[in-house]
Amino acid sequence: MFHILRFDELSSTNDYAKTHGQELSASDVIWATTQTSGRGRFDRIWQSKKDLTFSILFRKAPLSHTILAPLAVVYALRSKGIESTIKWPNDVLYEGKKCGGILVERIYEGNAFRFEVAGIGLNLDQDIPEDLKDKAIALPEGLESEDVLYHILRMYAMLLRMDKDSILSEYRKNSMLIGKDILVQGKVISVLDVNMDGELMVSQDGETSVLRSEEISLAQIYDGR
Ligand code: BTN
Repeated sequence: MFHILRFDELSSTNDYAKTHGQELSASDVIWATTQTSGRGRFDRIWQSKKDLTFSILFRKAPLSHTILAPLAVVYALRSKGIESTIKWPNDVLYEGKKCGGILVERIYEGNAFRFEVAGIGLNLDQDIPEDLKDKAIALPEGLESEDVLYHILRMYAMLLRMDKDSILSEYRKNSMLIGKDILVQGKVISVLDVNMDGELMVSQDGETSVLRSEEISLAQIYDGR
C-alpha cells in the first residue's frame, strides 16, 4: 500500500510532504538519506546525518497518527529483537533514552482538512552529539535503514487494518506513561489513558482533563522525590 519516493537530500521530509501534498498520493513515503533542516515538535532542530528519516502522507486514518506511528516503530523494532517503548506524544525510547521522534502535522485549507503527514526519525547513526548523550541514544549497530523502513511500513499497514479498540489497547501496552505520575509545568499529574485523537487523559486533584500534544512539553516522569 505504500509507495516510496527516495531522495539523497532534502531539507525536511515533512516539509517536502507538506509542500507537495496536493500532488502526492495517499500513502506516499518521502524518504531522505540526509535531511539538512529536520524539525521536531515546537520547531526544535532534528539533527541527522545517517539516521532513518521519512514522512508518510495520509488522507484518512482510523485514529490519530500520534498513536499509530510510534506503535508501528515499536512493533518494527521488536520484530528485529529490539525492545523500545513509547513516551507520549512523540518519543520512542530505547534503554530509557530517546532513539526516535515523530512529528505529526495536519494540513488544512481554511477549515477543510486536506492531509496529514507523519514524520519519523530514528537514530541509526552511532555518533550522538556530546550534549545530547544524557537523553538520546542510537539503536544497536548493524541496522540497515532500508530494512528498518520496510519493517515499519509493514507494521503500519497491519495497524491500519486493525480496529480502533485493539490499536488503543496495543498502544497502552507499549506506552511507558500510562499509569505514571508526570510533571507538567511544575505540577504533578497522573496519566490515566490516551484517547483516539492521540490526547493524553490525565487527572489532577480529582479532576480529569486531556492534554494535547501541540500544547505541552513533558518535563519528566515524577518519581515522588
Ligand atoms: C521530535 O522529537 O520532536 C520529533 C522529531 C521528528 C523528526 C522527523 S525526521 C523525518 C521528519 N522530517 C522532519 O523534519 N521531522 C521528522
